[in-house]
Amino acid sequence: MTINNLFSGPDRPSPAVLTIEQVIEDRRTIHNFKPEVPKFEHIRKAIKLARWAPNHRHTEPWQFHHLGPKSIAAVVDLNARLVTEKKGVVVGESKRERWNAIPGWLAVTSTLSPDDEEQTREDYAACCCAIQNLSLYLWSIGIGVKWTTGAVSHHADFYQLLQVDPAERQTVGLLWYGYAASVPSQKRRPVEEFLTRLP
Ligand SMILES: Cc1cc2nc3c(=O)[nH]c(=O)nc-3n(C[C@H](O)[C@H](O)[C@H](O)COP(=O)(O)O)c2cc1C
Repeated sequence: MTINNLFSGPDRPSPAVLTIEQVIEDRRTIHNFKPEVPKFEHIRKAIKLARWAPNHRHTEPWQFHHLGPKSIAAVVDLNARLVTEKKGVVVGESKRERWNAIPGWLAVTSTLSPDDEEQTREDYAACCCAIQNLSLYLWSIGIGVKWTTGAVSHHADFYQLLQVDPAERQTVGLLWYGYAASVPSQKRRPVEEFLTRLP
């Protein structure tokens, strides 16, 4: 059952009436947000739940970096600078305006194991699971997320503002969050296309 667009904002059903199937299927990447900033306690709870993601060898490789006003201003500035360098000042400044309107920001980084490629890969995978946990919980209480991995999220200046050594940790996602101004619709191809049943 799809109940698209019901979950965002004050009219959504209470979490008690949502099934896990509905939350998984209905969650969408949100690109446009209302100005209201969700309370931090929601984000704290989402992080608490995110940590229950599976992680091989119990490494708990995730770190959640919640951005306050000073850090947000620095990310917005960095992005405007990078876009300006590539596409000129008009596009750069329009990005600045758009990014300034994002209500909530959270970065997720994962442990790097320079001598162990497999561990690095599995830690990254676990962090992806954690982000999905977080996104699904937030969606179930009406808060939308956009997971981004653009140039900013791997830039040296970004790591510096996170106070992270890029030799030790890598960004898995720079997340925007807030109440959706609009909810895009999405499709998935039929399950048969992705299902191989072996004898
Ligand atoms: C690892 C990862 C990186 C992503 N990076 C971006 C991004 O940089 N920009 C963006 O618009 N969406 C990004 N997305 C979101 C996808 O575009 C989105 O999941 C996809 O369009 C499907 O939409 P849905 O999440 O609503 O099902 C990313 C998703 C993942 C899992």
